[in-house]
Amino acid sequence: MKSKVFRFISLVLTLLFNIYFLQAQTRKFDAAEATAAVNTSVKKISPDLFGLFFEDINYSADGGLYAELVQNRSFEYNPTEQREWNPFSFWEYITPGFSYGRISIETMAPVHPDNPHYLVLDIEHIGHEANFTGVSGIGLRNTGFDGIVIKAGDTYNFSVFAKQLTGEPITLSISLQNRKGKILTESSFSTSSKDWKKYTASLIPTESNDSATLVILATTEGKLALDVVSLFPEKTFKNRPNGMRADLAQVLADIKPAFIRFPGGCLAHGDGLGNMYRWKNTIGPIEERKEQRNIWGYHQTAGLGYYEYFQFCEDIGAKPLPVLPAAVSCQNTGGTWQIGGIGQKALPMDQMQDYIQEVLDLIEWANGPVTSTWGAKRKAAGHPAPFNLQYVGIGNEDKITPEFKERFEMIFNAVKAKHPEITVVGTVGPSPDGDDFTKGWKIANDLKVQVVDEHYYTSPDWFISHQSRYDTYPRNATQVYLGEYASWGNKLRNAIAEGAYMTSLERNGDVVRMASYAPLLAKRNFTQWKTDLIFFDNGSIYLTPNYYVQKMFSVNHGDLYFENIILINEKDSLLAASCVKDSKSNDIILKMVNFGKEPKTMKINLAGFKNMIPLAEQTVLTGNADAENSFDNPKNVIPVKSEFKVSEKFEYLAPAMSLTVLRIKTTLK
Ligand code: AHR
Repeated sequence: MKSKVFRFISLVLTLLFNIYFLQAQTRKFDAAEATAAVNTSVKKISPDLFGLFFEDINYSADGGLYAELVQNRSFEYNPTEQREWNPFSFWEYITPGFSYGRISIETMAPVHPDNPHYLVLDIEHIGHEANFTGVSGIGLRNTGFDGIVIKAGDTYNFSVFAKQLTGEPITLSISLQNRKGKILTESSFSTSSKDWKKYTASLIPTESNDSATLVILATTEGKLALDVVSLFPEKTFKNRPNGMRADLAQVLADIKPAFIRFPGGCLAHGDGLGNMYRWKNTIGPIEERKEQRNIWGYHQTAGLGYYEYFQFCEDIGAKPLPVLPAAVSCQNTGGTWQIGGIGQKALPMDQMQDYIQEVLDLIEWANGPVTSTWGAKRKAAGHPAPFNLQYVGIGNEDKITPEFKERFEMIFNAVKAKHPEITVVGTVGPSPDGDDFTKGWKIANDLKVQVVDEHYYTSPDWFISHQSRYDTYPRNATQVYLGEYASWGNKLRNAIAEGAYMTSLERNGDVVRMASYAPLLAKRNFTQWKTDLIFFDNGSIYLTPNYYVQKMFSVNHGDLYFENIILINEKDSLLAASCVKDSKSNDIILKMVNFGKEPKTMKINLAGFKNMIPLAEQTVLTGNADAENSFDNPKNVIPVKSEFKVSEKFEYLAPAMSLTVLRIKTTLK
């Protein structure tokens, strides 16, 4: 109750505050300030500045963005992932109606050699009619990723590969049940082949449930092999088969990212050579993909693979930025981060030609004609048109060892020779400075790598005090992709510090070509990295203040940067601002950040801009520095939109701890 009263009072105070700002804007500059302000200069900034970095960490892919509802669908879980896991994890053997038989996990003649395990049901006896559900049989129950969320009236597409191991067809009942065993929807079919064959069924539940289970029951006797048991909501993002969870994909799309980097992160270079992410294992029919341990301690089905990443990028108008390993594994392989990250392993030289070919094949797969070997595979997957791949990342914050250097150089030279049209993104270690950073930059400068990927996770104060970092970077040389950054927290203060820093990225948008916050997604109870952009569970999502800052910048990006439009007190390091123009819309966009505890005035001079419409769209994110969002209170800190009157010259009183975006339209077409 107390907290409700407190929230009400703070809402009223915020409203009063906003009313005050609206009035404050009409104050004018004095003459000297106005002259200083029109001395502007313009520079081009990267059209790809703000994007997303997706890594399968925190259950972001399986159990997250990838809409598959069955966990361990191919019976490939194993103890290398979590000591207690095995091919039967997340399945339960059930024998309703006093039925009996046996189950086993087999590997002889699987659906595909890369998907070696499957389950055999030996149905010896179907018993009496079961209590409650009325169905007796031998079978399996899958609990999904901590329960399956279903909605009444929605369609769920079930599929399974089955092989009859005895003479007669076997009838299977497929149902979604609540935790008490009540059937919420059911379908059945009989097998018809002694070879592996895919069977499908549609399930439409009569009731919604947030912890349903999938039950497969053989109701006639015999012996049957089962594999790749899958259940997808029909309503995936853009209704894509094998698609993405619509609500999660939508909040990513809402950011309107210029690019998406994937699949990692550490996931890309892997925990040892055998764990490197090999893109070819992740395309083609899902039953042929090679599943493997996820470096973050769980399982990756590769169901969300390269085809799905590229398709998603296309669906939301983002450029794909795949990151391929630089033929070395993560330096923390085997958990050696505890003893100084000494675990990097390098691919033997006699495997390098094949590996380089693998990198080149990706470019052919993405861009090549359908008459090429790999272009034909893209077509077979359903996408004859090229994906227009422009960027390829090589390496992820690798330790810059002689082994790394040699291999990076070989891959880089091969890509440049065969595909000069591709922009290669190199890597310069995990920190904003230090040994790997220096050595990585030296390689980039020597080889004239077009872009390198910098990473830093640090405090809000660091972001505030390093806003001039890129001001002195050489122009017309290697550009920067700030591929991972975050300020250690999801409170408003973290988001605003990041916002201040992002104005400096815009100011340096001629040298900083791309930037992406990290990590992107985190599942409730499965979060391995503390600070993330979007939190979700099976049925809900909450967006952090950091998300709103990213979105406010990305949907309001420009291609031209104007100096000296917003005058702030240079001595006040808690203030930051930028002015950009979007040449497509001719909109002028002002971003103003106040990281301080008091409202502060900024002076704006738009005299150089013509044909402005005086009513701008104002978006303000502000509140208590410690405020954050949560599953219980997802809208505690959200941006507020209103209209704001602008003139050629005016003052803006930026609220304490705030980011404001003013989007000014013009009558220019
Ligand atoms: O974003 C989480 C991890 O941080 C990434 O996998 C890695 O590149 C960095 O160390």
